[in-house]
Amino acid sequence: MVIFFELFRDFLCCQFVSSLNLPYFCSSRKPMEYENKVIDESIQGSALEIPALDNSDAKKLYLESYGCQMNFSDSEVVASILSDQGYQTTRNIDDADVILLNTCSIRENAEQRVRNRLTEFKIKKERNPELVVGILGCMAERLKKNLLDEEKLVDLVAGPDAYRDLPNLIDEVGTGQKAVNVLLSRDETYADISPVRLDQGGISAFVTIMRGCDNMCSFCVVPFTRGRERSRDPQTIVSECQDLFDKGYREVTLLGQNVDSYRWNISAKGEIKNEAEPTTNFAQLMEMVALVSPLLRVRFSTSHPKDMTDDVLEIMAKYENICPYIHLPVQSGNTDVLYRMNRGYSREWYLERIAAIKRIIPGCAISTDVITGFCGETEEEHQETLSLMDLVQYDFAYMFKYSERPKTLAERRFADDVPEEVKGRRLNEIIEKQLAHSLASNQRMVGTIQKVLIEGKSKRSDEHLCGRTGSNAMVVFPKENQEKGNYVHVRITSCTSATLMGEIVAQP
Ligand code: SAH
Ligand code: SF4
Ligand code: F3S
Repeated sequence: MVIFFELFRDFLCCQFVSSLNLPYFCSSRKPMEYENKVIDESIQGSALEIPALDNSDAKKLYLESYGCQMNFSDSEVVASILSDQGYQTTRNIDDADVILLNTCSIRENAEQRVRNRLTEFKIKKERNPELVVGILGCMAERLKKNLLDEEKLVDLVAGPDAYRDLPNLIDEVGTGQKAVNVLLSRDETYADISPVRLDQGGISAFVTIMRGCDNMCSFCVVPFTRGRERSRDPQTIVSECQDLFDKGYREVTLLGQNVDSYRWNISAKGEIKNEAEPTTNFAQLMEMVALVSPLLRVRFSTSHPKDMTDDVLEIMAKYENICPYIHLPVQSGNTDVLYRMNRGYSREWYLERIAAIKRIIPGCAISTDVITGFCGETEEEHQETLSLMDLVQYDFAYMFKYSERPKTLAERRFADDVPEEVKGRRLNEIIEKQLAHSLASNQRMVGTIQKVLIEGKSKRSDEHLCGRTGSNAMVVFPKENQEKGNYVHVRITSCTSATLMGEIVAQP
């Protein structure tokens, strides 16, 4: 029965998931057992609140976030910029002077969700005409000032590179105008803004190391909404990680749309920009962060199969605190589909990268993203995705039906010709296969002893704690006298497809 429930819940989450796969930030950190493992729908639209001294004169900001971890991290930057201007965040929307929605465009349903949400603000705006309603993030960038025409109650539209301008934009609205800034930048990284952490006193934090994406996968809207790829100064990244460690954090996840192409002081052509300064690639950056402390776990997301090099894998193998877990989105198991997707690799190349991971980091956990029903996908091509999943045996996967996005290469070049019911049936087939593989992966852990970083109480009971293995599996165990932030060794005694159960043992 328990297993049935887990399967059903996972199934629902995969079906209705609205956005991406960068690890999600759970504001309340409540549904911990399922965070990362399955995208947690419940945090979509969650509001950010920073503890502050109550100041009844302060302007109140209600900031709701959708989409990927990048967006949730950007919301922390936005909160930081506006709190410097005296704004106080609130989770009570009725208290708000300014409502901002940080939005996602990755699939059509992600945008629809925001439009539905906006209709709920209509009455609030009628009651309080001074209320400022703003759209931030990827929908703002994609639709630009059209958003103002399509959604009459929106006053302000700000793209992902325009957040420093928010105080001015809000002032502009105060003078009775609509305000728009959707300029994309070639160098904005918000490197100097220290994000206000939502879960102050937390264990795990996300650190943005680069913004934008130059890849132009044919299905993807991100290059249009996030602009050109740019990397952040490594020294600012290391200082942020050191600061987080000093504040008690024990895990950092380095974030970027394509972390393998991180580069500092190196041009896109591979030339050194300034001979007098050192250069840094992703493998070197990971090493710098790993050296902050052996007690600080290092994770990263997302890797791109065409760019993931052996030197990254070798650095992972060298440092115990770099977690043996790689999210390597495949999208399809068929070379022709991959070509139409403009992914830049073939089925064989991808499988060779998997072989390299297994050779250099034995036991490394691997997860992926799959899109079903991409333009022209035949039944044979779909079968190749299933056969690739059997070959790789992913520990888990995020699975989506193809959703055509305006202006993308796929929209311009190909017909979205796989019928909805066929997309749905293919999605069910890959979900079913993945659930079997996830369960098998967890079953292989039963009987082993795992080093677990405790994240907090289990949501199932106060007498249990939960935490993750290096391979990112969630483990629930009786708490004894341990607390969050500690590392413990846990013998795994049983599992479902989503969670491991165990008991603390002495260090082997
Ligand atoms: N930069 C990351 C992922 C960004 S988007 C990467 O390259 O892997 C996250 C995932 O959403 C993608 O991996 C893809 O599986 C899915 N996705 C993106 N665009 C989509 C679309 N138009 N329809 C369905 N799924 C999509
Ligand atoms: Fe989109 Fe491809 Fe860039 Fe990922 S690598 S964000 S899928 S264009
Ligand atoms: Fe993220 Fe969605 Fe934008 S996945 S980058 S918030 S389109």
